[in-house]
Amino acid sequence: MKKTWNPESWKSFPIKQQPNWANNNLLGNIIKELNSFPPLVFAGEVENLTNHLKKASKGEAFVIQGGDCAETFSDFSANSIKDKLKIILQMSAVLTYGAKSNIIKIGRIAGQFAKPRSNQFETINSVTLPSYQGDSVNKIEFNERSRQPNPNRLIKAYNQSAATLNLLRAFTNGGFANIEKVDSWKQSFIATSEQGQKYKEIAESINRAIEFINTIGISNINSQTRITEFFTSHEALLLDYEQSLTRKDSSSNNWYDCSAHFLWVGDRTRQIKGAHIEFLSGINNPIGIKIGPTFNPNDLLPLLNKLNPNNLSGKISLIIRFGVKYIDEKLPELINIVKNYNKNVLWISDPMHGNTFKTADDIKTRDFSIILDELKKFFSIHNKLGSIPGGVHFELTGNNVTECIGGSQKISSEDLKYHYETACDPRLNNQQSLELAYLITNLINNNQGAKNGY
Ligand code: PEP
Ligand code: CO
Repeated sequence: MKKTWNPESWKSFPIKQQPNWANNNLLGNIIKELNSFPPLVFAGEVENLTNHLKKASKGEAFVIQGGDCAETFSDFSANSIKDKLKIILQMSAVLTYGAKSNIIKIGRIAGQFAKPRSNQFETINSVTLPSYQGDSVNKIEFNERSRQPNPNRLIKAYNQSAATLNLLRAFTNGGFANIEKVDSWKQSFIATSEQGQKYKEIAESINRAIEFINTIGISNINSQTRITEFFTSHEALLLDYEQSLTRKDSSSNNWYDCSAHFLWVGDRTRQIKGAHIEFLSGINNPIGIKIGPTFNPNDLLPLLNKLNPNNLSGKISLIIRFGVKYIDEKLPELINIVKNYNKNVLWISDPMHGNTFKTADDIKTRDFSIILDELKKFFSIHNKLGSIPGGVHFELTGNNVTECIGGSQKISSEDLKYHYETACDPRLNNQQSLELAYLITNLINNNQGAKNGY
């Protein structure tokens, strides 16, 4: 199978969730144009991430992957990108300080523009139109023109990804993301909140530690270690787009999907004989597989064998999103298969996607305490079975939105109407994200305590 792989071989496999582009000639031209554009990420960076993920799978590092459910063309400004980076940096400062863990930071950013949908069509007041499939496909406004998939949007998605990545690189290489700046990552609006106060204390302790290191003259951190690494990721959904950015690395002769460092396959497109798995089987990026309640455990080994035939460590992350209802029943079986067959995987919890529900007013939301419950279960199941919970995957934003209920701000279903801004699924806001980082610190510490037998 592998021998016949090429960036287009997915085209002879059954495919799901692709837009019904009205104009295939235009699509073809756009894909050709994208194929002539420069790559967004580079093989060396991707390999670097794989090496970090290898460490996380052994418990020597921990992954925070987070960002919007769907990035949009309208939310595109320096401040908004900076805020998204800030919240992940803040969470990782909390975890580094509290859990003494090396945190691998991966954004759902600079390419998260395409959405799989449960329903292909949406009906409002007896008008039926194609569902919104993300800004790289169509517009969210509910009218015929807006909902028509338009391949020109792929170019805009590429350009926005490039500009976003450019700014992220400037922030990370230019020192903004260095731990010395821990204080400047906070948002003014949370300074007076409980989470803000706690964060201030941590930032002060970190600053004191840095001052101490500087005073005794061992700072001498070389320029390499001063660069904070931040990686990008998105769902590899639109295979025409992903194919167009797939390039052969001239030094290794390996293929990389240069649209992002890390790609994941969604819960709706991970069929073992489907086009998405075929495409992902040929690229050298680390890959995530979303695993929800409909996953058939018999598919696990075939999937791992196809995507990672050499069983390389750091290559595959299993992103578990069973939901609080199913995780107890379904996760242990997968852990046992992985153990019995000595498969190398990194276990990541996505406690968001299995816990979405609608309020009485028909608003999609998630409950902070249920998200936390799934996380607790994820950690305790791994703990019991002696495997390693290696990371978390969240939909979150640096802004003060009201999309998920609960948390110490006690957001109620009534409050959801005030700042409900997501283009797709409900995200944790800044305070909820930070609060979760504190709680995850406890989960990591408890887990390590249990491993060490105390
Ligand atoms: C997502 O991560 O936004 C998503 C659609 O996830 P899943 O494939 O797990 O439903
Ligand atoms: Co989502």
